[in-house]
Amino acid sequence: MNFKGADILTADQFDQEAIKEVLELAREMEESVRKKEARKDLEGRIMATLFFEPSTRTRTSFEAAMLRLGGQVISTQSMEFSSVTKGETIEDTAKIVGQYCDIIVMRHPEQGSVKRAAEATETPVINAGDGPGDHPTQSLLDLCTIKKEKGRLDDLTVAMVGDLKYGRTVHSLAKVLGQYQVKFIFISPPELKMPESDKEFLQAKGVAYQETEDLKSVIGQADVLYVTRIQKERFEDQQEYERLKGSYVIDNQLLKSAKEDLAILHPLPRVGEIAVEVDQDIRRASYFRQAENGLFVRMALIKLILS
Ligand code: NCD
Repeated sequence: MNFKGADILTADQFDQEAIKEVLELAREMEESVRKKEARKDLEGRIMATLFFEPSTRTRTSFEAAMLRLGGQVISTQSMEFSSVTKGETIEDTAKIVGQYCDIIVMRHPEQGSVKRAAEATETPVINAGDGPGDHPTQSLLDLCTIKKEKGRLDDLTVAMVGDLKYGRTVHSLAKVLGQYQVKFIFISPPELKMPESDKEFLQAKGVAYQETEDLKSVIGQADVLYVTRIQKERFEDQQEYERLKGSYVIDNQLLKSAKEDLAILHPLPRVGEIAVEVDQDIRRASYFRQAENGLFVRMALIKLILS
């Protein structure tokens, strides 16, 4: 794919070559950040971050990435402080903000909304999460982490656990990882299973997957365990959320049944799905390193789009 000037809307935009390009440049970015180099790649360029849903890592890592490349950032603080609360459409917002900047990073609670924004402006738009839909840049940093932790993207059994229905990060990651020689195990309560559309996508690509509710019985097979938060904000019935929220907890006891070189990932925030004691399991607990990789991958991506 040609990154120059491209919108980044869904994870299935990335083929293996594109992934390789981003991950290689991300490695260079990491070295540069470790050396505390003051870069000027994107000097004079402006990124607008429009987050109509809460975010810590995604927004700050995008903004840090732009600043580390010598660019600048403008930002609306939240939905409350933007004209969207006055009734402005996402299209008008994107059209206007696109005139002020060189790239827009947008998160919005509605699936498909970021695509609509991208259609309204010539300025490249990056989807930083559209409701339960997609989170393509998260999938790149997840791949980066798997590659670094496991040394490969092929010959892996990847277990995804938690809210596979509403969790956009698993939807994106399944799409990109499905291009490699992987086997998936989807572990969730029956109410929160991986959507049919994602499973059909994998079937069409001939990717093997298995579904179960029982984490303990399958954890020993996993090379990668991708843990997710039950997505409270997507439930219409909060009682149902309360009933399902504690479905899975990864703790040291459970990890006794897991491979010694398992990589445990989580897009974060965690709200109890991974016990704090697991953080001491430095080799397997990969989630903080994963969050750090977000900076390097986003530096690489915006450099490819803007230069
Ligand atoms: C995820 C998200 O927003 O989809 N967080 C993130 O971007 N790192 C996961 C989540 O909120 O559960």
